[in-house]
Amino acid sequence: MSDTLELQQPESGQRTAAGSHSDEQTKLRVRGLRKTYGAVTALESADLDLEKGEFVTLLGPSGSGKTTLLMAVAGLSEPEAGEIWIDGNLATYLPAHKRDLGMVFQNYALFPHMSIAENIAFPLKMRRFPTEKIQSAVSRALALVHLSSVAHRLPTQLSGGQQQRIAVARALVYEPSIILMDEPLGALDKNLRDDMQLEIKHLHEQLGGTFLYVTHDQEEALTMSDRVCLMNHARIEQLGTPHELYFSPATLFAAKFIGESNLLRGVVGRPVNESCKEVHVYEGCVLVAKTSLPAGHGVNVVTRPEWLSPDRDALHMNKLVGEVLEVILSGAVTKAFVKLPNDSVVKVSSLTSPTSHRFHKGDVVTLSCSSDSALIFDEITGKRA
Ligand SMILES: Nc1ncnc2c1ncn2[C@@H]1O[C@H](COP(=O)(O)OP(=O)(O)O)[C@@H](O)[C@H]1O
Ligand SMILES: [Mg+2]
Repeated sequence: MSDTLELQQPESGQRTAAGSHSDEQTKLRVRGLRKTYGAVTALESADLDLEKGEFVTLLGPSGSGKTTLLMAVAGLSEPEAGEIWIDGNLATYLPAHKRDLGMVFQNYALFPHMSIAENIAFPLKMRRFPTEKIQSAVSRALALVHLSSVAHRLPTQLSGGQQQRIAVARALVYEPSIILMDEPLGALDKNLRDDMQLEIKHLHEQLGGTFLYVTHDQEEALTMSDRVCLMNHARIEQLGTPHELYFSPATLFAAKFIGESNLLRGVVGRPVNESCKEVHVYEGCVLVAKTSLPAGHGVNVVTRPEWLSPDRDALHMNKLVGEVLEVILSGAVTKAFVKLPNDSVVKVSSLTSPTSHRFHKGDVVTLSCSSDSALIFDEITGKRA
């Protein structure tokens, strides 16, 4: 814990390049963490490192183990196996109040009988900071979340969004080693959520703290995070930058959970060149894609709507021919639904511009994508191959 109470700007060069992290840079290290509730395995073999200053998001469907992992890190639930290291110290069984963590939950959890200023001061009083330092830290924290004017109000006199900003200020005020947030924006409406996402992201940039954030919303995770830890059925499915998860999903689950995707099924055919093979798609076409799987192997193929485009110049060998069922112009993006020979439907999207292709209902179109943008997953293991 800092004893200066200054909400400091991060030192430059605090974040090191990927792959060159020294041990002092590791704020949180989780190894082999496991938790069960009776017959339910809530978390299995979880390994995770957070570097100093990083913003990492646990993303996954409801029940995938995100809260279980966060609670174990917070010291609010005891794991059955595994280790948790905070700032290089073993903390697996350390009580929550000795872990130097700040927490924000979905339901604000402000004390209703205390003023806003008292709410923010509370963690400092608990830690027996001198009164004058508490006052300056509270003022600074309120200014950070742009709510200096409400210091003397009660929580009920604030909107939901304002209450959540106060909860964030309260978690930041004593400059904890790591800030944990469990679906903090889940109770807010869409517009407010978008604003708060940016606000929390800016606070992170301004303060340089280390954040472990939970959401089930993939867009929120991609927007806010340095790295995303995708969870599925109590396990970490993939850990990587938003870019890596979007362009190189490791599994079919990851490809389907993040972003929009078209799913086709097929079987690997003959090689076309050193890296590419034909993939005979049951939906009625032959794609050329990168895969290490042998001929005859069953695969799932994923393409994203914006990776497909009408092939006017016949540039690519990947071609899907179908009939346009529906066209939706929703502002900047135009979407078309195209029916393939076996009646399955693929989505295509492109930016709406005067020069881009105009789809018309009933037209027969040829869609294509590059061999890099037809992702191949082993039908049996679900892994990218
Ligand atoms: N206190 C509990 N008692 C029994 N089962 C629980 C408890 N907490 C969580 N679980 C179960 O553990 C699994 C993971 O839950 P959780 O970590 O809350 O998921 P998430 O936060 O990703 O929605 C779920 O199947 C859930 O039902
Ligand atoms: Mg949860």
